[in-house]
Amino acid sequence: MALLSWTHASTVGVKAMDDQHGILMDAMNELRLTLMNGSGHEQTSARLEQLIDFTRKHFQSEERLLEQQDFPGLSEHRAAHARFLVQIRQAVDRAGRGEETGSVPLISRLRALYLEHIEEFDRGYGQWLNDRGVY
Ligand SMILES: [Fe+2]
Ligand SMILES: [Fe+2]
Repeated sequence: MALLSWTHASTVGVKAMDDQHGILMDAMNELRLTLMNGSGHEQTSARLEQLIDFTRKHFQSEERLLEQQDFPGLSEHRAAHARFLVQIRQAVDRAGRGEETGSVPLISRLRALYLEHIEEFDRGYGQWLNDRGVY
């Protein structure tokens, strides 16, 4: 089974953040395996909670970095993170109620959400930080 991975278009160019995005992708792959193996509800929700937890920690770490660097788009980015956490929670709840069947829709939806966020928001600060010598 091919693993999910980020493409070149989702590289931010700031190592600590790219590493954390890698951890999120690993967590999504673990979740995908759990779903595909037909593991029980308990194991699936544990994986989902882990992904959400990593995501929340990553957002805090990213916001701290942007704050330290006085990034001008910080408040907008922070709002996008808050929206993201709501969206991911909704996707998980919908899947939990069986409104999406099978493993592919949930995982595809999650991956699309992360990709969208990274491409729309994270790459913007990447260039800005690189221009100020932060890699
Ligand atoms: Fe972000
Ligand atoms: Fe990020």
